[in-house]
Amino acid sequence: MKTKYNLAIATLSSLSFLAQTTPGFAATPKENFDWYCAQCHGVDGTGNGINSVDELPVGPMNLTAAKEMSKFTGPMIIKTLTHGGPVNTLDSLMPPWGNRLSTDEIEGLMNYVRALCKEDGCPK
Ligand code: HEC
Repeated sequence: MKTKYNLAIATLSSLSFLAQTTPGFAATPKENFDWYCAQCHGVDGTGNGINSVDELPVGPMNLTAAKEMSKFTGPMIIKTLTHGGPVNTLDSLMPPWGNRLSTDEIEGLMNYVRALCKEDGCPK
């Protein structure tokens, strides 16, 4: 029973891996966010992902907060997503995604991140 269960899990994970790596497969911005970003930023973007622990020198940014997000223009976000935090003098704990995601996917993620911020003062 346990083996069957493990096999099912293994099959499921390799299927989702395939989906993510098959050429022509177009993931939605939400799917990309949940897959690549949520472990740090949290599914809701508040920065409470499973890898966000107190021991980190710099926490994943709260992408829903006007105070934080008003510091970044769309082109700055695209630059960070493509080349990683240090390109905008942010921490290297924010990884680069330019070798993994297409420019269209990165633009989709920029718009998705923008929409997570709903407070007064969030950039439009
Ligand atoms: C390993 C953890 C980690 C992952 C995974 C991660 N981030 Fe980040 N991210 C960070 C950290 C840490 C910062 C804040 C860096 C700082 O304050 O110096 C950050 C900052 C940001 C910022 C604000 C900086 C800016 O220029 O706008 C955005 C937007 C962002 N991340 C989006 C994303 C997106 C989208 C993904 C998925 C493609 C992602 N992050 C994946 C850790 C992560």
